[in-house]
Amino acid sequence: MNRTTQLESKTAFGEVFTDHMILAEWQEDRGWTDIQVLPFGDLHLSPSATVLHYGQAVFEGLKAYRQPDDSIALFRPEHNAARLAASARRLAMPELPTALFLRAVTALVSVDHRWVPSQDGHTLYVRPFLLGNEGRLGVGPARRATFHVIASPSGDYFANAQAGLRLFVSREFSRAGVGGTGAAKCGGNYAASLLPQREAQSRGCHQVLYSVERDGRRFVDECGTMNIFAVRDDGRLLTPELGTVLDGVTRRAVLELAAGRGMSPLETHIELESFLVDCAEGRITEVFATGTAATLAPVTHLVDGSQEVAISGADAGPVTVALREELLGIQFGTLPDAHGWLLPVPTK
Ligand SMILES: Cc1ncc(COP(=O)(O)O)c(C=O)c1O
Repeated sequence: MNRTTQLESKTAFGEVFTDHMILAEWQEDRGWTDIQVLPFGDLHLSPSATVLHYGQAVFEGLKAYRQPDDSIALFRPEHNAARLAASARRLAMPELPTALFLRAVTALVSVDHRWVPSQDGHTLYVRPFLLGNEGRLGVGPARRATFHVIASPSGDYFANAQAGLRLFVSREFSRAGVGGTGAAKCGGNYAASLLPQREAQSRGCHQVLYSVERDGRRFVDECGTMNIFAVRDDGRLLTPELGTVLDGVTRRAVLELAAGRGMSPLETHIELESFLVDCAEGRITEVFATGTAATLAPVTHLVDGSQEVAISGADAGPVTVALREELLGIQFGTLPDAHGWLLPVPTK
């Protein structure tokens, strides 16, 4: 079968899967097994598995990039390994050792390397996930868990994202609270985001801009499945500090690239009301969102009730464009990987 033709004719994200998947299993008294490469297929779970009742499910998302010499590379997968372990810790699940994680994602991309698209901007999206699957209804951490990796060829996550994202400012719903699970990549966070996301879409927006309450004030948190950045008119780059937001791999890379450009990026609390006013009055000149799926996309509009704020003349600003080009250049190998961020995947 011509994989490339098949996947390039599909545009929807995450609906086509490669031929294989990875499995590793954990039991409290035995620890982790090594990985197995299996044909992609359905899972067998007890109807009483912890994941089905109490949501013990954490996951990751990373991409394999086709390089100009036709080789394949993953982008900073050790950060995904560390984040999966942190998410697992928060949900009282077993932590997968980094070496096992890297072996698993590399093995899947390697065996299914023909699925890594060559089309411009397309990638193989890799989805590792960890489930509590002990068959027991008592509320408590599972004493058995399974780790899988599946992969799906992908193009643009948002249609026309580069033309600018419209964000719906939600005041009714939060995705995270102080002390909650906002920093963990757990399924429940995404379940809770579906209703606000539907509301955002019904108002013509791509994503929700969430805020988090601290001491009676609201602070900018994240937008849907992406971290958010703002560029001020004095050239400073701001992003909400870690705590309730996901520690995005793209976020980190952007902070490092911005520092390399002398921008002194700042991780800080950003109060929602002043953020909105600064966007409306031009003190914030650019806003962009970052994430593995959507990369780095300009935010051009904020929809706040009946108010609509256009940012940066409703166009992608120069900082957004420059950082995006640098990031994509490194990921797709058209710029030198000066930071050693790419992990080559063997294909023989
Ligand atoms: C809630 C949330 N925030 C931020 C991100 C961006 O993280 P990363 O850059 O690692 O994809 C994601 C995507 O994984 C996400 O789901």
